[in-house]
Amino acid sequence: MITFKPIPYDDKAAFYAELLRECEATFERIWFTNLSSCAGALMAHLPRVNWTGFYMWHDGELRLGPFQGLPACLRIPLGQGVCGTSASQRQALVVGDVHEFPGHIACDPRSRSEIVIPLLREGRLLGVLDIDSPELNRFDGEDLKGLKTLMTTLIKKTEWPISF
Ligand code: SME
Repeated sequence: MITFKPIPYDDKAAFYAELLRECEATFERIWFTNLSSCAGALMAHLPRVNWTGFYMWHDGELRLGPFQGLPACLRIPLGQGVCGTSASQRQALVVGDVHEFPGHIACDPRSRSEIVIPLLREGRLLGVLDIDSPELNRFDGEDLKGLKTLMTTLIKKTEWPISF
């Protein structure tokens, strides 16, 4: 049984180290299991967020993957929205105010800031992690660092199907 214990967020380095430990303990081989556990842990532990989840690269576009939050758009073309831009540039994006981001795709009208991290394996795009917050400028460099490390571990620990 998994017992939920909140992780204090005042020291972000300690927070992400503990979150990584917790997520690693749940990781197994299957990609959708690991992504679901990760989306759930992020929603449970990160304060002031309203959407946590993944868009996966499938048939030449991003398709909605495991997530927590309101039902969201199902498909995002490469180069569109924050997710599609991050995927096409293969760069993480931290957006302080989504209303200022050209082409931002509003799935949940409460979202005001967003962080997107591309999932890359041996140079190939697997998908993106997307986290939304109802607060302006919610994410900083420490969130970026902690989440990148979590994604690197997730990618390594997961057995990805050949099609990814
Ligand atoms: N805002 C994202 C779309 C996905 S939702 O936020 C869940 C974007 O602009 O790509």
